[in-house]
Amino acid sequence: MKISVLFICLGNICRSPTAQGLFQYYVDQANLADSILVDSAGTGSWHEGEAPDSRAQLVALNKGYDISHLRGRSVESNDFLSFDYMLAMDDQNLYFLENMKPDNYHGDLGLFLKIANNRVEDCSTDNKIMQVPDPFYGDSAHFEKAIALIDHGSKNLLAKIREKHDL
Ligand code: 4NP
Repeated sequence: MKISVLFICLGNICRSPTAQGLFQYYVDQANLADSILVDSAGTGSWHEGEAPDSRAQLVALNKGYDISHLRGRSVESNDFLSFDYMLAMDDQNLYFLENMKPDNYHGDLGLFLKIANNRVEDCSTDNKIMQVPDPFYGDSAHFEKAIALIDHGSKNLLAKIREKHDL
């Protein structure tokens, strides 16, 4: 059985597809694609079927990976049957997921950066520590900030999963 990881944000066009692409990149580099399944979803449905935001695609390409093939989808209750890790980008998404979570869910649901065991000083100088701030209404600096947090979190998450599952 593959270990399965779902990244979740609001629109599924900025943060979570960036995390899906970047985490998949590190999984592939580690030759673990047969052991770890990666996906992403949104708590909102406005962007279902859409490619990632062009600004998110650009910062990803600048880092050396392509997320243009990904398409937005909404998180669904069946995801709780399929995914071992359900990782929210911020408190708002986590609140939504906690309300949706079936009582018998035994996976790891929480903030991505918290479950990835990031150190507080890695995350932010403001009070949004452990959250990846929504860059959608921001500028390119907000997208750069988001990808930096996601990059660091992805490396930590992979190390944690490898250790926990003996991979
Ligand atoms: P994301 O960013 O949650 O990182 O994909 C957003 C994308 C779209 C919207 C909000 C956030 N929106 O309101 O349409």
